[in-house]
Amino acid sequence: MTGAVPVPHGLPVERDASPFDPPSRISRLRESRPVSPMIFPDGHEGWLITGYDAARQALADTRFSSRQDLGVIHLPYETPGMPVFTEPSPAEPGMFIAMDPPDHTRLRRKLTGAFTVKRMKRLEAHIAEITERQLDELERLTPPVDLVKEFALPVPSLVICEMLGVPYADRDTFQVNSSKLMVRDISFDDKMAAYTAMSGYLAELVTRKRAEPGEDILSDLARDDDLAVEELVGIAFLLLLAGHETTANMLGLGTFALLEHPEQLAELRADPDLLPDAVEEFLRYLSVADVFYRYAAEDVELCGETIREGSTVAISLLAANHDPERFENPDALDVHRKARGHLAFGHGVHQCLGQQLARIEMRAGFAGLLRRFPTLRLAVPAAEVRLRTDMNIYGVHELPVTWGDPDR
Ligand code: HEM
Repeated sequence: MTGAVPVPHGLPVERDASPFDPPSRISRLRESRPVSPMIFPDGHEGWLITGYDAARQALADTRFSSRQDLGVIHLPYETPGMPVFTEPSPAEPGMFIAMDPPDHTRLRRKLTGAFTVKRMKRLEAHIAEITERQLDELERLTPPVDLVKEFALPVPSLVICEMLGVPYADRDTFQVNSSKLMVRDISFDDKMAAYTAMSGYLAELVTRKRAEPGEDILSDLARDDDLAVEELVGIAFLLLLAGHETTANMLGLGTFALLEHPEQLAELRADPDLLPDAVEEFLRYLSVADVFYRYAAEDVELCGETIREGSTVAISLLAANHDPERFENPDALDVHRKARGHLAFGHGVHQCLGQQLARIEMRAGFAGLLRRFPTLRLAVPAAEVRLRTDMNIYGVHELPVTWGDPDR
C-alpha cells in the first residue's frame, strides 16, 4: 500500500457540516483520493471508497466478496472485541447479504417472486391503508409527540410483519434486539446476546410455520423442503431487520430534512406529483444505509489504485451519493432533481431486494404526513434533535414534532 494514510481511526461519523451532509473529512477525502487507504479501528489496513464511480464499480465487481461474517449485523471492524477476519468467513445460514454467488444466488432467487414490482404494486393500496390508520392514531395524540415512535417506525414495521407473518404484538422482542445489533459501540458479548435472542425467537416462529404454514412469505419459504430451518431463520432475520430499520429512518430523517428546508417542503406540498422524484432525492441525499464492507478475493485495480487480495474495503454510499462529479451541487436537497442512478440501494448482485417496497412505503408515508399535517413543525430547536451517529443505520433517535395553530 502506498501513500499517506488519511483516515487513521476508521470512518469519521460525526456530522460536523450539517445533520444531512457527509462528515467534512469524508468529503475532503473524496476530493483528494476517492479510493483511499484506511486503518480500521482494530489497526489493520484496508481501503475506503468515497467516489461515485469507484463505489459503483466496486459494488458491481464480484471479485469484491461480501463474505464478512454476518455482514450488516456484526460489522466486525466496528464491534469492540469482535474477532477480525482476514479471509472470507463461512456465511451464517440464510444470511445471503453476506454470501457470494452461487450461494447468494440460490437464496435470493427464492425471494425474488415475493418482491417483484408487480407484487409490490398490488400491495400499494394496502400500504396506503396502514399508513392512514397510523396517521389517524397520530392525530388523536396531543402534541408534542415523537414522530419516530408514533409514525416512522410503526409503518414499515407493521408492513414487514404482515408480509412475513411475524406477529406485530411481538415487536418489543425484535425491535429491542435489532436495535442493539445496530449500535456501533456495543461489546461483542452484548451483540451476540441480542443475536441469540433474535435467532431463538425466529427459530420458534419458522418451526411453527413449517408445521402449519399460513399465507405469508415465511410460510411460503417454510413449504420449500430445499431450505433448512437454520436457513429460514437467517432469511427471516435479514428481512425483518432490513425491512424496518432502513425505511423507518428514511421517514424520520426525511421529515427532519424537509422541516429544515421549508422552501422545498412548500414546493412538495404545492405539487404532490413531485413526490416520486423527491423520494429518490431523499434516498440520495440522506443515504441512511451508508457503509458496506467487501473483501478483495484477488488483486483488483480500481481507479488507479491496486487493492491487494485479502484487503477489507469499506464503501461509503453517502459519500458516493454526494460526489459532485456525478450530482451537481450534491449537498443541496432539491426535490426537482432527477436523482435516479444514486447508490442508496447499493448496486450489483446485492442491490436492495426491498427497494420497491421501500419506495411505496416512503411515497405513502410522506404523502400522508404532508397532506394530513399541514402545520407540522419541530417541537424543539433543530440542534436538540438526537442524531443516530452511534448506529449503523443513520437517522434520528426521536423527532419531537407539533402541529396546529401556534397562537392557540
Ligand atoms: C440490501 C438499502 C429497505 C431488504 C440492501 C443494500 C442496501 C440497502 C444499500 C445493499 C447491501 C450490500 O450491497 O451489501 C436499503 C435502504 C432501504 C432498504 C436505504 C430503505 C429506504 C429494505 C426493505 C427490505 C430490504 C424494506 C425488505 C425486505 C434487503 C435485503 C438485502 C438488502 C434482503 C440483501 C440483498 C442481497 O444481498 O442480495 N439494502 N434497503 N431493504 N435490502 Fe435493503
